[in-house]
Amino acid sequence: MSSPALDQYGVFGHPVGHSLSPFIHGIFARETRQEMSYRAYEVAPQEFTERVQRFFAEGGRGLNITLPHKVAAVEVAQELTGRAAHAAAVNTLSHQNEVILGDNTDGVGLVHDLCDNLGLVVTQRRLLILGAGGATRGVLAPLLGLEPAIVVIANRTPERAEALAAAFADLGATQGVGFAYVGETPFDIIINATSASLSGEIPPIPAGAIGPQTVCYDLAYGRSAMAFVNWAREAGCARAVQGLGMLVEQAAESFRLWRGVRPQTAHVLAALKARSGSV
Ligand code: ATR
Repeated sequence: MSSPALDQYGVFGHPVGHSLSPFIHGIFARETRQEMSYRAYEVAPQEFTERVQRFFAEGGRGLNITLPHKVAAVEVAQELTGRAAHAAAVNTLSHQNEVILGDNTDGVGLVHDLCDNLGLVVTQRRLLILGAGGATRGVLAPLLGLEPAIVVIANRTPERAEALAAAFADLGATQGVGFAYVGETPFDIIINATSASLSGEIPPIPAGAIGPQTVCYDLAYGRSAMAFVNWAREAGCARAVQGLGMLVEQAAESFRLWRGVRPQTAHVLAALKARSGSV
């Protein structure tokens, strides 16, 4: 570890070279005057558990966990927060009272971006989430906590959407369907949580699902993941944005958990947008 005098934090991923977290947490630390260091660690799956345990045994204070380790991190954690248990995935680890605590700040990060940064109302609105993988599972509980009228989960493999809708039905109105069964009534908010954008593909939902009031949000971000946003704009939505704000907000929530202070996010988000070409 580079500077033992500083509290050590970092992100474990594979690959991790592209991670924006060191940039984000570096600014957070400077602006909140926290004596800490934060760096990216390249960690292969077979060494993940041992590296996490060693990091904390050597006095490390906290880790962000990114792909592909978010599910493995559930097992490494000795305790889980409720939101990490719901997500069945961990993106934040901290050492608290001699215990490695697993948390998940992705969903609350999305909620902050939708409600605070974008000024959207979710309560009593109709939401459509595309995809039924880990990304969807991670955000469902915080979204349902805002009491939308319904969350429809649509997926290429309908059975996965149905299973996820059933698993979260106790938290609010959910429905799981295949893309073709989304219906022609426009949704208020459509969230793309599939990995389709990364290969330039668009989930084949009916055109009527997007209306002039619909806000479309892709959890992916960056110039290489514009397919869904471009398609949504051409389909006549009110607004289409990428998930860079969620990234910054989940980081702020992790930072708050570790340091007890929530950093300002607006200008970090603006700087990242300029740097990454995200919209
Ligand atoms: P993540 O953790 O990122 O959600 P995942 O669990 O592998 O990753 O889930 C990926 C999601 O993207 C799934 O909903 C997947 O659909 P299937 O369940 O049918 O596999 C969806 N997906 C991936 N590629 C897609 C494509 N080209 N078109 C539509 N959906 C796609």
